[in-house]
Amino acid sequence: MNKLSPSILSADFSKLGEEIKIIDEAGCDLIHVDVMDGLFVPSISYGMPVIKSIRKCTKKTFDVHLMVTEPIRYIKDFKESGADLISVHVEACKDVKATLEKIRKYGMIPAIALNPETDIDKIYDYIDLVDMILVMSVHPGFGGQKYIEETTEKIRTLRNHLNELGVEKDIEVDGGITFDNVETVLDAGANVIVAGSTIFKDAKKNTKKMLEILSRS
Ligand code: DX5
Ligand code: ZN
Repeated sequence: MNKLSPSILSADFSKLGEEIKIIDEAGCDLIHVDVMDGLFVPSISYGMPVIKSIRKCTKKTFDVHLMVTEPIRYIKDFKESGADLISVHVEACKDVKATLEKIRKYGMIPAIALNPETDIDKIYDYIDLVDMILVMSVHPGFGGQKYIEETTEKIRTLRNHLNELGVEKDIEVDGGITFDNVETVLDAGANVIVAGSTIFKDAKKNTKKMLEILSRS
């Protein structure tokens, strides 16, 4: 099933609660929360106190994308803040397996993320441990970047590999998704779509428009 996970990184933080209610009521499936530590990526975004606070605004699944070095240190804190699903980067963990197992142990859904320059086979050892693979289609750190075209082939390779293994996993694509390229990534095999700047230009209208495309693809 195709799902939409709007990234609140592009929301207006002066009215974050209202923005979340708009995408919730418009029917989004998940809410994508980008956490950046200023080390794994150049920028710093927000962390546990913000997640805890917005937890009151919605019952939707919090899809927390940790762009954080050694995220194993914070799994318990994110659980306590209200995270439901956590993606960690394969490049950011000394012990990827232990990190994913810890996420599961704390009752959350584990996912593995990879950067554009990381080969897709680098995550193949972890497929059994995750429910979702997050394929970055921009260099992580900022919203509003342009989709890296090579990602389409990477998604296709991953979907073929999963099919050969006979396993059904979600493939999430994150970065530079627009109304013009979303069908291409769905066709390649992605089924969880992150979109930040595209959605929050007009949150209600664009959430509905994106969901409409997802429902007919
Ligand atoms: C980038 C983040 C993305 C970002 C997507 O580091 O992981 O989730 O918010 O924003 P857009 O859709 O504007 O590229
Ligand atoms: Zn993200």
